[in-house]
Amino acid sequence: MDLEQRSISVDSLLPHYERYFGHRPAIIAAAPGRVNLIGEHTDYNNGFVLPMALEMINAVSVAPSPTGKHRWVGSLGDSIIELSPEEASRPGDPFWSNYVRGVVCMLERRGVKVPPVDMLVDSNVPRGGGLSSSAAFEVSVCTALAALCGADVPPTESALIGQQTEHEFVHVPCGIMDQFISANGKKDHALMLDCKDLSYRYIPMTDPSVSVLVIDSAVKHSLADGGYAARRKNCEDACGVLGVQSLREATLEMLEQHKNRLGDLCYRRARHVVAENLRVSAFADAVQRGDWETAGIAMRGSHASLRDDFEVSCAEVDTLVGLSYTIPSAESVYGARMTGGGFGGCIVALVKSNAVEQVAHEMLEGYREALGIETTYIVTRPGQGAHLLFQEK
Ligand code: GLA
Repeated sequence: MDLEQRSISVDSLLPHYERYFGHRPAIIAAAPGRVNLIGEHTDYNNGFVLPMALEMINAVSVAPSPTGKHRWVGSLGDSIIELSPEEASRPGDPFWSNYVRGVVCMLERRGVKVPPVDMLVDSNVPRGGGLSSSAAFEVSVCTALAALCGADVPPTESALIGQQTEHEFVHVPCGIMDQFISANGKKDHALMLDCKDLSYRYIPMTDPSVSVLVIDSAVKHSLADGGYAARRKNCEDACGVLGVQSLREATLEMLEQHKNRLGDLCYRRARHVVAENLRVSAFADAVQRGDWETAGIAMRGSHASLRDDFEVSCAEVDTLVGLSYTIPSAESVYGARMTGGGFGGCIVALVKSNAVEQVAHEMLEGYREALGIETTYIVTRPGQGAHLLFQEK
């Protein structure tokens, strides 16, 4: 995976689309990947998350197909796949097409009739890096198809459609965070979401003295491999013991009280979730008052808890986070942590802007020395959530 990606624009997409289909698209929609600043494995526990959208996007160009069949291209250079209107809303091959099939199905469930379309997908969100390329895919397809059909699908509904697609067509039991931020992200803002009722507030991230640094561990992760589902199950089991609907209702005191009945594993899983919710609130308040030191401490606490209690980190990611304490420029790092589902993927750090390139350089060098792995990074601002790039007049 390479975090230093090529750019995507309407000007670059139009000629590709015309070459594939011989006519122009009616709509081009974009939706971003995300990096989660804090609040990990809390979304499916009705807790708090605090992600921001990236500037990297998945772009979907569409127009009604003149052939009466759907014709889709999954990425630039691929060949066209053809599906009948009935096939387009059922699971099938190739695997990537399920992201589109699922969205078509979920739109139709909501009464939106999707006509056969010619669709070209292009993305510069790296796949398998924990930056939610799948959510960006689902949400951009939904945004494009809704606009094409003239259907009013608010961003949060688009996010739910993406999540249902993930559950029913991709078989990943994800929470709502990734799709939600991809749909609702706002330029120059992070977003604090209460996953219990989907209420949210934007948190300005406009302080020029602080930068968001994302570094890839170059370890592939896969949420479908069971680790994620197993964590969800541990959390449900803990709820059963505690007699609560979700871990959102649990407190640290309750966990102490029921420690023996919970058993070590469920106790630690639940402790991560309960404490992480507290850290999200502390982080949000700190960022809002420009207290980056406190925000950084919350991030560091989050990482330790994900590593030790929730056990979703890995040696490579721990090495990267460890380097943020030991590199020569360590005093310029406010905090660093793994981001996303875990088991590899990226780390996110808040760094003093005047030192961010130096920090990135030292981290990459340290990583190469420690593990022999070459990797890449980006420095990014919060990007815009799903939006239309182009609409034929
Ligand atoms: C993945 C899932 C999200 C969330 C994170 C962990 O990204 O898609 O819903 O659970 O893992 O915070």
